[in-house]
Amino acid sequence: MNEVYEKLKKCHEAVVAKITFKPELALVLGSGLGDFCDTMDVKETLPYSEIEGFPKSTVAGHKGQFVFGYSGGVPIVAMQGRVHYYEGYPVQDVVLPTRLMHLMGAKTLFLTNAAGGINPSFKAGDFMLITDHISPFVPSPLIGANIDELGTRFPDMSEVYSRRLRTIVENSAAAEGVPLQRGVYIQTTGPNYETPAEIRAYGRLGADAVGMSTAVEAMAARHCGMEVCGISCISNLAAGISANPLSHKEVQETADRVAPLFRKLVARAIADICKSN
Ligand code: HPA
Repeated sequence: MNEVYEKLKKCHEAVVAKITFKPELALVLGSGLGDFCDTMDVKETLPYSEIEGFPKSTVAGHKGQFVFGYSGGVPIVAMQGRVHYYEGYPVQDVVLPTRLMHLMGAKTLFLTNAAGGINPSFKAGDFMLITDHISPFVPSPLIGANIDELGTRFPDMSEVYSRRLRTIVENSAAAEGVPLQRGVYIQTTGPNYETPAEIRAYGRLGADAVGMSTAVEAMAARHCGMEVCGISCISNLAAGISANPLSHKEVQETADRVAPLFRKLVARAIADICKSN
């Protein structure tokens, strides 16, 4: 068996041995957004450290556990803390959690992240519905022998972020009175923030926001047939647009400031998505 798949299956066996909960939707919580779980009716939790072979998240502000429970009556699994490529893991490990949540039964992947705003009309604290992404600055998570059990060798990426889910999330935001920008996300490797010249270049490529996650997870999810949507919290203006040097502290402070609105938006969107399924 393919090594990557073998590791995934082992992690899945470890989850099945400890967890009985069956999620319909998987939610990945970005930097500073992990307290969404406080609004859930939590049934079970599983620290990543209890899953042998699972990559550990090392970022400040990321807890590192799966949280199983209900959000607005919908059975979900939430990731409090994700794994990033810049932590030194192979990209196949970075997407292991995504694939694991697919094996747990989640049909939908709801990605969230903190991102730097490139689009000049964005302000720190805005939310952006991800309409598409640009990923060639990070390796594809699908490099290596294809895992036929999950999906096809050459998966289509013409609609990574489902048009159907985008419409639902836009309606949820309008219903809750939460302003929602929309745009294209570009993933870099990190961990350094970008130079102003890089940000100008990414803007010309068509990116509206930049971050260090999400695109590879979305690609792995599409490969295994999950329906995907994503929201970025614009935690800062990107390098050269912002007058100040960038810091992780600023990213967390903005995420903390908008956390109540974010919780409202995501909770409503999850409920609306599941009503439509
Ligand atoms: N650049 C890259 N990643 C980020 C940023 C940024 O400006 N803000 C939050 N994550």
